[in-house]
Order: sequence, then structure tokens, then C-alpha cells
Amino acid sequence: HKEPTMPGLLLGDEFPNFEADTTIGRIKFHDFLGNSWGILFSHPRDFTPVCTTELACAAKISDEFKKRGVKMIALSIDSVEDHRNWSKDVMAYNSAAETPLPFPIIADHKRELSVQLGMLDPDERDKDGMPLTARCVFVIGPDKKLKLSILYPATTGRNFDELLRVIDSLQLTAQKKVATPVDWKPGDKVMVIPSLSDAEAKSLFPNGVTTQEVPSGKKYLRYTHI
Ligand code: BEZ
Repeated sequence: HKEPTMPGLLLGDEFPNFEADTTIGRIKFHDFLGNSWGILFSHPRDFTPVCTTELACAAKISDEFKKRGVKMIALSIDSVEDHRNWSKDVMAYNSAAETPLPFPIIADHKRELSVQLGMLDPDERDKDGMPLTARCVFVIGPDKKLKLSILYPATTGRNFDELLRVIDSLQLTAQKKVATPVDWKPGDKVMVIPSLSDAEAKSLFPNGVTTQEVPSGKKYLRYTHI
């Protein structure tokens, strides 16, 4: 049979204001986000091993997302009832069986949202041959626009510390005319974006700008401290 086409979302697109059933009831996504940043992460299936380790990690570091003003929400193609039951396993895996999962999970049992958002993994299917959701991450800004997306297959678990790191970069670069280099962490030096002239950079960055020499003689490796 013909697979549905998945249009997906591009950076800068307004994130759809979808309605969905979740473990905290029916939501309209933009109302759920309010004025916050948001992170929506999908997983293939409830009661599966890699997904359990991922959501347990997400739960464990949920205070770090909260500190950054980021509302978390997960998604898979299972029912609300399955999500509620599996959430108990996830928290027990964290040795916190008495604590509720600190974020809701969307029940996309009809796969409508998964198709709309381009989240299906054609290589992983359920017993009826229907594709499962991939490990997709969307970070949404307070303006409801897509700021970052990553897409991993079902067989590769994500690194949630990396998600905190990219959120730190997204939030910094939304405020200042800088970009963060490879493996950047908060407190490290940052790079001046290429569109700024040296004069503009000098006036914008009171901590000074240093330029690294390269054989081309072009002065594009400009660093500053924020
Ligand atoms: C897992 O979460 O362990 C998983 C789910 C679907 C396919 C492969 C692994």
C-alpha cells in the first residue's frame, strides 16, 4: 500500500497548533506552550527498552529544562492508557516509583500528528506492518517557530544532555549576535557571527573580540566572551 507522504517542518516554520489527547487531557499545543520555549520528543512505542531509558533520563533532568523555561512533552502512537501505565515503569526504572512522570505524553494512536510532522520511521514497523515513530526532537521558541529539529531512527537512543546544551545555545544566540562553536558549553568563548562588521562587533562586545589568524588571511574566526 502507498505510504502517506510526510511534508515535515523547516526551521523557522510556525509549529502547528495541533489538538491532541495526552496524559494530562486534551491540549491545544500553543496554549500548552504559553509564552515558554517547548521541546517535543517522539519515541517509537511504549513498553520498549530504549524508549524507557530515554524517558527516564528526560524525567531525571526535567528540572534542568524547567530552569531554562522549556516545557517538555513526549509523543508516541500508543493510547493514553498505555502511556499512563508505561509512565509508572519509567519512573520505577528511575527508582522513583511514587513520583509521576514530570511531563505529559501525547497519544497519537491514529498517527495523524506523526504524519503531519514527518516523524515516522519506515524501517521500524508494528506487527500489522504500520511504521512506528522515529526519535524526533523539535525545539520551539516562545514565538512558536521551530528552532531546531533532530531525527534519529528507532534503534538509536538520544543524548538528553546534548538537548540541554543545544537549548543553551539556542537561547543565547536568540539574544546575542553570536554563534556557538563545536562542543560549546555555557561559559566557553563564543564566535562573532559573520554578518557583523569588525566595527559593529567591537561596539557590541565589551569583553573584546580576538581574531585567530588562518592561512587564507581572512578574518572570520572571531571570538568573544559573553
Ligand atoms: C526501543 O525503544 O527499544 C525500540 C523501539 C522500537 C524499535 C527498536 C527499539
